[in-house]
Amino acid sequence: MGRRRPVQSQPSDQAVPAAADNWWRDAVIYQIYPRSFADSDGDGIGDLPGITARLEHLTELGVDALWLSPFYPSPQADAGYDVADYRGVDPIFGELSDAYALIESAHRRGLKVIVDLVPNHTSSAHPWFAAALAAGPGSPERARYIFRDGRGPGGDEPPNDWQSVFGGPAWSRVTEPDGSPGQWYLHLFDPAQPDLNWDNDEVRAEFLDILRTWLERGVDGFRVDVAHGLVKQADLADWHYPQETLSGGTDQRRPPMWDQEGVHEIYRSWRALLDTYPGGKILVAEAWVQPAERLAAYTRPDEMHQAFNFEYLQASWTAADQYAVIDRSLAAADSVGATPTWVLSNHDVVRHASRLGLPVGTPRPNGIGIGDPQPDVQLGLRRARAASLLMLALPGSAYLYQGEELGLPEHLRLPDEARQDPTWERSGHTERGRDGARVPIPWEADAPSYGFGPTDASWLPQPGVWAEFALDRQRDVPGSTYEMYRTALRLRRDLGLGSGAVQWLESGDEVLFFRNGPVRVLTNFGAEAVPLPEGAELLHASGPLDTDGNVPTDVTVWLRD
Ligand code: NOJ
Repeated sequence: MGRRRPVQSQPSDQAVPAAADNWWRDAVIYQIYPRSFADSDGDGIGDLPGITARLEHLTELGVDALWLSPFYPSPQADAGYDVADYRGVDPIFGELSDAYALIESAHRRGLKVIVDLVPNHTSSAHPWFAAALAAGPGSPERARYIFRDGRGPGGDEPPNDWQSVFGGPAWSRVTEPDGSPGQWYLHLFDPAQPDLNWDNDEVRAEFLDILRTWLERGVDGFRVDVAHGLVKQADLADWHYPQETLSGGTDQRRPPMWDQEGVHEIYRSWRALLDTYPGGKILVAEAWVQPAERLAAYTRPDEMHQAFNFEYLQASWTAADQYAVIDRSLAAADSVGATPTWVLSNHDVVRHASRLGLPVGTPRPNGIGIGDPQPDVQLGLRRARAASLLMLALPGSAYLYQGEELGLPEHLRLPDEARQDPTWERSGHTERGRDGARVPIPWEADAPSYGFGPTDASWLPQPGVWAEFALDRQRDVPGSTYEMYRTALRLRRDLGLGSGAVQWLESGDEVLFFRNGPVRVLTNFGAEAVPLPEGAELLHASGPLDTDGNVPTDVTVWLRD
């Protein structure tokens, strides 16, 4: 690996001690997807009381914080990312008092709570959108959204050629109050998710107030949905290209709907508000922006605290690519005084236990179903464990997605009729979408719905073979994926890996090898087993060593001198 520098230290200002306000710098944050975590009332949809009742799992696992995907009132056109009331709780998830109880109970256990904020669009069921439709063209109510007259005779054509991320045009036409065919409104996602106009002062004021509301309710931060999308290029110019799903483009080709300079001023105003609260309240950007330097701009000292590292999530399983993305991420974060973040799975991507079982170099699939090329399940899990152990040895903050600590794969045989992700319909059944990563998770092998709830009900069918992944089949079982995560999180904390620094060690083309504080970390990507370095004590491993005591293919080890 010619371009690898043999020894390269990251500057020491990454090793900021995790003082109370800096808790996020080295935190492990666990994503809860509320509808699929735990169902208290047996209706087949997870809920807030279900989460509260299962918080013990998070403390046993050893994470620092949880992030809740949206639980707000919503028609659920995009599983809650279509918010009709930013201050409430949808009855399917419980009541506001359940949110208070959850926050309080998490805090009592020493867990921070991050909620999801969806500022790019509201639901079409939001009172503002209803008011916009009723008030007609040119009204202040319409000015909160992006309404335009159509092009062509009779305004029958959309105002520009933008495509929606979920497929089809990014514009829908409304019927005016007098019954005539009317203006068009922009929705970068589903038609049920009209984009807000962030040039509008009322929009800006409203979101500051929403932030304030949840801060007063005690939350510790916000995961900001589509953070790279709020501001659009002013002329709404045609783009001429297909929508690159959730991609922020490149320096050569920056789409007019993503990563515009104007977003940064919004985040500066939010940061100023958060900084008036004690305890380190944080903002985390969901921004599909490349390259890493461009993403780093979101985490300048007066903007957000963190941004998800999707370049890392998408890197292929080779020593060269993993080295390159880790090195680049460390440098980019350091250039703005931030700490890097790492993530392998979330509710929008194929779970990494399945993704990594596809041939190396396969482009990131948008869902996998019956009829699609299938991953090698065993290989996927083996690599996923190696990848997770590598990730948890890196300095900075790591995000886990519920179920990955069980080695949970994608539901690869979900019947297409059961799919609920709008992607499936809007892509004309060409992209299966994200449901396979969202299936309710298994807790108890022999209980109805694997212990997800008290009944068999489950809003997406669970695969018949998930008993082996259930938590109760893995707890206290040496070598289980759950115990591998638990040990890794304990060691990570005890040895200060999250606040350490990466020092690259001599590696070949097939091996990634670095030091972080007292620990040396080695991942074998090659076809042959590699010997343990001389004098090394084996601290932890993602799989057993071979009979000669060597590190087999697709295994990560943590070593102590
Ligand atoms: C990103 C969210 O993670 C995803 O689930 C959602 O569909 C889009 N943003 C639109 O809100």
